[in-house]
Amino acid sequence: MSAALDRLVDDLQREFQRDARAPGASALLSSYARAHEDWRPFGFYDAQRYTRHQIARNADFELLVLCWGIGQASPIHNHEGQNCWMAVLDGEIDELQYRWTSGSAPVLTREMRFPRGEVAFIRDEIGLHVVRSRPGTLAASLHVYAKPYDACNVYCERTGDVTRKSLGYDSIRGKRVAAAAGTR
Ligand code: SIN
Repeated sequence: MSAALDRLVDDLQREFQRDARAPGASALLSSYARAHEDWRPFGFYDAQRYTRHQIARNADFELLVLCWGIGQASPIHNHEGQNCWMAVLDGEIDELQYRWTSGSAPVLTREMRFPRGEVAFIRDEIGLHVVRSRPGTLAASLHVYAKPYDACNVYCERTGDVTRKSLGYDSIRGKRVAAAAGTR
């Protein structure tokens, strides 16, 4: 892999073993995102949809690079009861948070913009969210999911209807994966 990214994976592993809630994860992600570029060979863009690149995955957490093209966004989705951190690697990322109750459309509660090096955190108690690049621009982000999961709920913006979506990868440790399924 790459020295700084390897070090980040090791540091995160140590942090999750020390304390499963990983209170130091945000600082580790922010320091990496502010100072390093060795994630770049692992990420690529696609004209049709945002891309997901697995950097590391173990029983405690998963580390992913996501590349967001112009106008690309995730659907409104949940996080399967897990903790999720997102650090901005390049460009600016918008996060739109929603509250949802069964039988009704999700309600937008908060809109935030994060520049390079900043870290967002979400779990289901906070809300659902949409992630996208700042309109008209490209962006890349670094995500930690603890624990890892392979599917999540997606919520129709108009009706609130819920569908299950499996989460796919465009590459795993730098190797392209043929066809990625996912929330996109
Ligand atoms: C996120 O939930 O942070 C981004 C969506 C994804 O993992 O595909």
